Amino acid sequence: MEEKIKSIEAKINAFAIQSRESLEQFRLQFISKKGEVTALFDELKSATAEQKKWLGKALNELKKLSEEKFRHGQEQLESTLVSKTFDGDLTLPVIPNKSGSQHPLSLTRYRIIEIFERLGFNVEDGPEIEDDWHNFTALNFPENHPAREMQDTFFVEKNPDVLLRTHTSNVQIRLMKNNKPPFRAIMPGRVYRNEAISARAHCFFHQVEGLYVDTNVGFADLKQTLYHFAKEMFGKETKIRLRPSFFPFTEPSAEIDISCLICHGKGCNVCKYSGWVEIAGSGMVHPNVLRNCGIDPEVYTGFAFGMGIERITMLRYSINDLRLFSENDIRFLKQFKPVM
Ligand code: PHE
Repeated sequence: MEEKIKSIEAKINAFAIQSRESLEQFRLQFISKKGEVTALFDELKSATAEQKKWLGKALNELKKLSEEKFRHGQEQLESTLVSKTFDGDLTLPVIPNKSGSQHPLSLTRYRIIEIFERLGFNVEDGPEIEDDWHNFTALNFPENHPAREMQDTFFVEKNPDVLLRTHTSNVQIRLMKNNKPPFRAIMPGRVYRNEAISARAHCFFHQVEGLYVDTNVGFADLKQTLYHFAKEMFGKETKIRLRPSFFPFTEPSAEIDISCLICHGKGCNVCKYSGWVEIAGSGMVHPNVLRNCGIDPEVYTGFAFGMGIERITMLRYSINDLRLFSENDIRFLKQFKPVM
């Protein structure tokens, strides 16, 4: 046994580790479960107690020797590999990793949030899977009323109805129901509608809705706030126009148009030769909505608005097809601001 230890020790010392292959060979021959050192440990079992004392010590040293040689060989191989990769010059700057770019919808969302935060609006969040009450009933959509069909709904469950929210107004309801006025908040988020996919529509899109409820909030506040937003978003020259409209949750209601950024009002195919482009729906919060959330409409009034982030992004960057936002085409995406 003593002889064997000596001869294996000599073999370990003489072994030249010069490549990945020889490193692996070394491991198999000496370190692995079937290796020569392990085999000696097996033999130790049949030695006498007296022999075991010093043989055990000698074997442990042999094991240590083989492991250290292995580790050393491994380190040496790795460092030659690294210097080969860098052509021997470790002072060269690293090749930068290509980072992605920010999605244009995110860039627009950040910009919208920035504008409203400066006016004192908080950002609120809420669930995308919602019950009927928060998405429709609390918002003054009467049961079985055709107004519900304005927003083609994806249902998750029927009776009681669970659905994919069709607008982020559900967050307005949750905010008003669970807190005390005044409220000044915007609600960015993804919404879903069962629409055929085309250049102008998709089965999901993104919205930012806004809500301002306090004593003495009037229509003039709505108009001035959205005028300020339009100028910040699209430039000082931008004009706005309010058109009467209908939403069950606001009264009176108005669509907000901005003067066309492409033709500046002269008429082009973006504004369909009208000089105006619609960017948002808005109105004074309906007294029933306030009541549904436990707020006294005799004391508090408010305005609300909702806009599509896709629409604003398309105007901002002259993008003509909504499908580009979700196709993940790298040629499209890499044109936007890189991630820092
Ligand atoms: N919730 C409306 C929609 O998604 C937008 C809107 C919000 C309109 C607030 C008026 C006031 O169509």
